[in-house]
Amino acid sequence: MNVLATSTGGGGSSSSSSSSSSSGSWNRRLLAVAAAKATALVLIGLWRYCWYKNHKEEKNEKEYHQLCARIPPRSIAEFEQAALPKLSPLARVYFQYFSDPGVTDQACRTFYRSLRLLPTILTGDVRNIDTTLTLFGKTLELPVLVAPSAFHVLACPEGEIATARGTGAGGAGYCYNWMLSSKLYKDVLPEPGVKWLHLYMFEERDLVEASIKTAMATGAFSAILLTCDHPHQRVQSRMMPFFTTSGFPYSNLDDSFFPNQGAMGFHDVTLKELLDPNSSKMKERANPGGTNSAQLSWDDVKWIQSMVPPGTPIVAKGILSAADAKQAVQVGVDAIVVSNHGGRQCDLAVPAIEALPVVVDAVQGKIPVFVDSGVRSSSDIIKALCLGATGVMLGRPALWALACGGSDALERMFSVLKADLQDDLRSLGVLSIRDLGRQHLWPPDRERIESIVASCK
Ligand SMILES: Cc1cc2nc3c(=O)[nH]c(=O)nc-3n(C[C@H](O)[C@H](O)[C@H](O)COP(=O)(O)O)c2cc1C
Repeated sequence: MNVLATSTGGGGSSSSSSSSSSSGSWNRRLLAVAAAKATALVLIGLWRYCWYKNHKEEKNEKEYHQLCARIPPRSIAEFEQAALPKLSPLARVYFQYFSDPGVTDQACRTFYRSLRLLPTILTGDVRNIDTTLTLFGKTLELPVLVAPSAFHVLACPEGEIATARGTGAGGAGYCYNWMLSSKLYKDVLPEPGVKWLHLYMFEERDLVEASIKTAMATGAFSAILLTCDHPHQRVQSRMMPFFTTSGFPYSNLDDSFFPNQGAMGFHDVTLKELLDPNSSKMKERANPGGTNSAQLSWDDVKWIQSMVPPGTPIVAKGILSAADAKQAVQVGVDAIVVSNHGGRQCDLAVPAIEALPVVVDAVQGKIPVFVDSGVRSSSDIIKALCLGATGVMLGRPALWALACGGSDALERMFSVLKADLQDDLRSLGVLSIRDLGRQHLWPPDRERIESIVASCK
């Protein structure tokens, strides 16, 4: 029994141990499978979560861009962003040109950003805000002019016609580049709005004289703006290879690059002939477009003064120092533009906005002082006015707006600027641009400005 029991017991025990070990290993296997399944489920869950999250982020990102694309640009930065992909390579190269890596341009932006406004709250009724500027007998809705620049057909097919229309409708002023325009003055000038005549003092004085006489006879210009900071041909020589090799996608440029050259004494010089140094037309004259003189002096300003109808205001553009500003006042210039030429003439020059208080101090309120280079928002305009500017000029921003949709987009840019200007003035508790002063700038920067002014005296 015992034996049997033992043997049975022994046999029973061995079978039960083998069955328990097999069920144990079975359990372990089951456990392993369950664990694997659980891990797989967790991993799948994680993967699905990540995929969903990424996908959602991607979807959000896409929808965000679609939404932004449906809403028209609301700031100059957005106009720039929208414009750059629309511009031809040639237009981009030409518009974004700097005489060096663009240090001055960046420095202007940095200085504008470093200045801070000082809002005042609960100032009562700020519903009616006056942003108008009256100058030389004309009133602008906002203290802004489009700075002179050339070849607006590179921004939009209607070229300067669109600039004149959009600027006039937007209540700003327009400096029409008579000599290097891509549209005939007869098509541009009927567009309503305040216009100044932009001139270079070219070596070919007959060109300058003819331009002034024909342009002023139109009665369309309330002032003449003379560019005084261009005593060399660097932009032209650097840009010419791009112009000659780009293939010019704009067919109308093939006919006549400088439509007003007929009025300036040049007829039948086509764009191709003009840009081809070997063409017989080019050989007839060193440079039918005009050569920037390397011998300019204040006597040239006097020469222009002697030629224009009496009372015609002359504005000198490109001033950066107190000495030049004083000289301009002494010569009898009617206004000045503190300008870096958008960084296109002398990179590493003092940023125009940084030079502004020094120049304002030197001028002592005798003539209006404008500033350009790097003005990109209503708060930039306010900062410039707080530092004593009468108004500002915009160069590239107007070209970007034109590229976004011609005159309509340009008009929109000015109405956005005007609305922002009004709201920013409300935030400052100021009813008119004429009431802006250094007290509206945050003191640390004011101290810095005062120290700059003091160091330049
Ligand atoms: C494409 C282009 C062409 C320009 N052509 C002229 C010009 O013919 N005469 C001139 O005085 N300034 C010219 N400028 C300089 C502008 O008048 C202005 O000083 C400058 O663009 C202001 O800087 P911003 O572009 O940062 O606003 C030109 C600027 C650009 C961008």
